[in-house]
Amino acid sequence: MSKEKRIIIINGPNLNLLGQREPEIYGHTSFDDYFSNLIEEFPEVHLEYFQSSSESGLIDELHRVGFSYDGIVINAGAYAHTSIALADAIAAIDAPVIEVHISNVYRREAYRHHSWLTAKCKGLICGLGLDGYALAVRALTNAS
Ligand code: DQA
Repeated sequence: MSKEKRIIIINGPNLNLLGQREPEIYGHTSFDDYFSNLIEEFPEVHLEYFQSSSESGLIDELHRVGFSYDGIVINAGAYAHTSIALADAIAAIDAPVIEVHISNVYRREAYRHHSWLTAKCKGLICGLGLDGYALAVRALTNAS
């Protein structure tokens, strides 16, 4: 069976430390472990994962996939709150993008309450833990 949709998950700075980093906020599961489960959950989807802690790394990856993939799930970490360049990159590409935050950023410090990305994205999922990524993949998979 050929995999119909190509979806990539892009994680930003410090998210390579999931499982170790502030586990009371982000949980005890590493993204690699979570991603293995996700691949099993979506056998019909071609799923990829990319992580970079640099803004340019994230922008280059958005440009690489943004005109050929069926969807992008992005957790830009703190860059969501600071980066107009990332927002511009999302606006520049064709693929639908869903923004994910593991924690409920609206229950945290005020500087986390605004994301430059949200207005350029198809949707936003936050505060649902790692499940947010699966929900985003499901939404992109269901979209025509
Ligand atoms: C985060 C929330 C951001 O405010 C923070 O800087 C992160 C992780 C989240 O997934 O909850 O790095 O994007």
